[in-house]
Amino acid sequence: MGAALLDGKAIAADIRRDVKTQVDAHLAAGGRAPGIAVVLVGEHGASQIYVRNKRAACAEVGFYSELHELAATTSQSALLALIDTLNADPTIDGILVQLPLPEHLDETAVTERILPTKDVDGFHPYNVGRLVLRMPLLRSCTPKGVMTMLARTGQPLEGLDAVIIGQSNIVGRPMALELLTARCTVTICHSRTKNLADKARGADLLVAAVGRAAFVQGDWVKEGAILIDVGINRGADGKLIGDVDFAACAERAAWITPVPGGVGPMTIASLLENTLQAAELHAKDRLM
Ligand code: GUN
Repeated sequence: MGAALLDGKAIAADIRRDVKTQVDAHLAAGGRAPGIAVVLVGEHGASQIYVRNKRAACAEVGFYSELHELAATTSQSALLALIDTLNADPTIDGILVQLPLPEHLDETAVTERILPTKDVDGFHPYNVGRLVLRMPLLRSCTPKGVMTMLARTGQPLEGLDAVIIGQSNIVGRPMALELLTARCTVTICHSRTKNLADKARGADLLVAAVGRAAFVQGDWVKEGAILIDVGINRGADGKLIGDVDFAACAERAAWITPVPGGVGPMTIASLLENTLQAAELHAKDRLM
């Protein structure tokens, strides 16, 4: 393996320590613990695991957290009523509704109902719009985590040709905006993109967020590229596999993220940072 490993697990542990230090200082000064409400609708297996991991990280740094587990048959109006209650609750700084929601629920309406200053996922159009305009407030957790990892490489990002495979609202689009803000030249690829492998080969920085196991092949990677694998796929044996063929790609890349232990822990670390940031906004009484 020629590439250096971008160790998300270790970087995320550093961030958790920093967040905990800030929470402890705030509590010592008589403040209240940042509070987060996590809403899980139905029994989506992967979502249950993600939510458990997020809540464990919140507990570790000293946040107050509450879990609202709702039946898969919950109505749109009942879910919106819960969000209204959480929006009005002064002990809650962040509201996270785990996606995907059951089909009968309208994710856009749910996301838009969350107060922008409590939108610790950074999914609300207000927060996405602020990112578009280069004045970010609460930023989407996975792209923010990737930017934190990239900063740890010490490599300047200005002027790099960045290629993102995947155009989702959660990763691909906000990732493109983050990299554009960092002055990369950004290409977003998706299922209708022509000559995908050629586009990938031109990338100084390649982000794979397609949700297909080992999709990015070794010969798609430019020598010396930075390779970020956002994928979390499960193989037939139950093992986690990224969107990148790790062994082959690591021969050519300069930096690579592993799966597991790469982007995944960074998403949770960003959620902690966002919740602390939201608590600071509310403490300053900058409620909107
Ligand atoms: N589903 C997959 N990733 C995420 C995430 O980062 N936040 C929420 N709320 N749902 C998700």
